[in-house]
Amino acid sequence: MKKNVLITGGAGFIGSHVVRLFVNSYPDYHIYNLDVLTYAGNLENLKDVEDKPNYTFIKADICDHEKMDSIFSDYNIDGVIHLAAESHVDRSIKDPFSFAKTNVLGTLSLLQAAKTYWNGDFENKLFYHVSTDEVYGTLGESGFFTESTAYDPHSPYSASKASSDHFVRAFLDTYELPVVISNCSNNYGSYQFPEKLIPLFINNICSNKPLPVYGKGENVRDWLFVNDHARAIDVIFHKGKIGETYNIGGFNEWRNIDLIKVIIKTVDKLLGRPQGASEKLITFVTDRAGHDYRYAIDSSKLKNELGWEPSLQFEEGIEKTVRWYLDNKDWVDNVTSGNYQKY
Ligand code: NAD
Ligand code: DAU
Repeated sequence: MKKNVLITGGAGFIGSHVVRLFVNSYPDYHIYNLDVLTYAGNLENLKDVEDKPNYTFIKADICDHEKMDSIFSDYNIDGVIHLAAESHVDRSIKDPFSFAKTNVLGTLSLLQAAKTYWNGDFENKLFYHVSTDEVYGTLGESGFFTESTAYDPHSPYSASKASSDHFVRAFLDTYELPVVISNCSNNYGSYQFPEKLIPLFINNICSNKPLPVYGKGENVRDWLFVNDHARAIDVIFHKGKIGETYNIGGFNEWRNIDLIKVIIKTVDKLLGRPQGASEKLITFVTDRAGHDYRYAIDSSKLKNELGWEPSLQFEEGIEKTVRWYLDNKDWVDNVTSGNYQKY
């Protein structure tokens, strides 16, 4: 079936993987990638699909409601996969306002545009909101976040994402807008901006720069290969039940310090350095304010109801990821120098 699908934030890390997957897998769909190109948006991430006939890039800000209204009618949008956001916790601690603006007001302006344009005719329409496990807050040593875990965000980033999730559900309850939400754990893989732990540390190891480990490095995250997240989004977009929430996770928990040692080992091996040589770069620094201790996702609903499972073992995923950053030094250099903004 033909569809016009609006993917927001498609020039970012996860968005670029979702755009690539949809453009290549669904030649009958037209994929509109809407992105304002903040520091995190990079059209180089999509070089391989930019000339495909079923792909169009639209430079626009989701907070511009008049523009969102016109995009829905100009392109006759049937489905939305909404990823555009400010996404980095440390930036949200320094500048919470831009997180409230993009993540809350931007989501609201898209919801309003969908409601206005679809105007009660919701057949074959879907507004899919991509969210995070951070809305659930933090876990102790045991237990998992499920879809019924109460929201308890601690950072301005997670508070803004929690608020956007509430607006999405409010549009279902109040206007019957067909919505679905997923909450995913930490992603890793190619094209991630090197401010996040894994690409930052790979890059710093290569350049022999210090590796700033927050606190004692004891916080735990549940890591998922980004292509598996994109596959989950595909499954939920096509088979998810309207009004439902699906948790997405890797069943793959790592203490930061243990993960960092795996990254060091892998980079050292691939660069031909003596094993563990770069451990001397580990530098313990002041902890992140409000640092959530542990995230762990129970994604059994997604597995049991829609048949999705992570496809890749972590050891394989991390080696693939390190190799990608080593083999794509031009991409890393462009991103770190700011040249990508001229692409
Ligand atoms: P990212 O920061 O790499 O990309 C965000 C994209 O959104 C960028 O291309 C940016 O230019 C665009 N954008 C920002 N503000 C915009 C605006 N006002 N209008 C239009 N475009 C705008 O983020 P990411 O890591 O790829 O995350 C994508 C989504 O997935 C976010 O909603 C995030 O909350 C969620 N998420 C991320 C992770 C993760 O581990 N990275 C995990 C779970 C959920
Ligand atoms: O859980 C999903 C979330 O994962 C997403 O919603 C966010 O968009 C994404 O950025 C990510 O958030 P985190 O804060 O968990 O990711 P980050 O890579 O920033 O940090 C991972 C862990 O590593 C965290 O415990 C903080 C720590 N850290 C991070 C950096 C950047 C360090 O110790 N040193 C660092 O320099």
